[in-house]
Amino acid sequence: MTSLSPMNDSVSRYTSIAIILHWLIGLMILCMFALGWYMSELPKDLPKTASLDLFGLGIYTFQPAEPMSPRTFYFNLHKSVGLTILALVFFRLFWRLTHTVPAMPASMQEWQAKAARLAHKGLYLMMLALPLSGIVMSVYSKYGIAWFGIKLVAGLDNNPLREQFKEVHEIAGWVFLALIILHASAALKHRFWDKDEIWGRMSLHG
Ligand code: HEM
Repeated sequence: MTSLSPMNDSVSRYTSIAIILHWLIGLMILCMFALGWYMSELPKDLPKTASLDLFGLGIYTFQPAEPMSPRTFYFNLHKSVGLTILALVFFRLFWRLTHTVPAMPASMQEWQAKAARLAHKGLYLMMLALPLSGIVMSVYSKYGIAWFGIKLVAGLDNNPLREQFKEVHEIAGWVFLALIILHASAALKHRFWDKDEIWGRMSLHG
């Protein structure tokens, strides 16, 4: 299987940009899972309010630009952050395809290197599939999409298609989560068990 961009023994670490994008996007995606599950559980019939207690924690209360229901606020936030992630993923893909990445360590068995490369491709695929399915679902809803208050697309109000893409979004989410767990477990194994260079070359302070 070919890699996404040339691997090379002469580079020992990912570039700083690749490392920052890796951790930033990873963190944002984990927050999006939490936000997605949290907002989906919110009741649909809550009244519009002028003041919102962020995540109902009693830590930070703020006034949105206009009164809105908590569900509307969190859905809009989820869509806005999701669009931002998609833009970052496009940039990350561009960077990955135009820069040399370090080769797998010689100590790694061939099947493990193949599995790692396959998992990385799967992660890139899901980094695209999640936001794209969310966008299509939202376009078919009656609300459309705004990016931090800037209206981008009006909703088409087609409920059967919205439902279908909602299912795609949910299933893609579970596949993504399984891949993330696999990826993170493998990375931790390299750090604490194999003690090879894999962790260090993607670490923020190296
Ligand atoms: C990496 C990006 C994203 C992740 C990880 C993510 C994750 C999730 C998760 C975990 C849920 C809850 C699903 C469930 O109830 O089981 C959800 C729901 C949802 N997501 Fe996303 N999402 C992403 C991007 C987007 C984008 C870009 C949009 C739209 C522009 C979007 C729109 C929605 C909507 C509307 C729902 C609620 C569906 C409903 O209950 O009607 N998502 N998302």
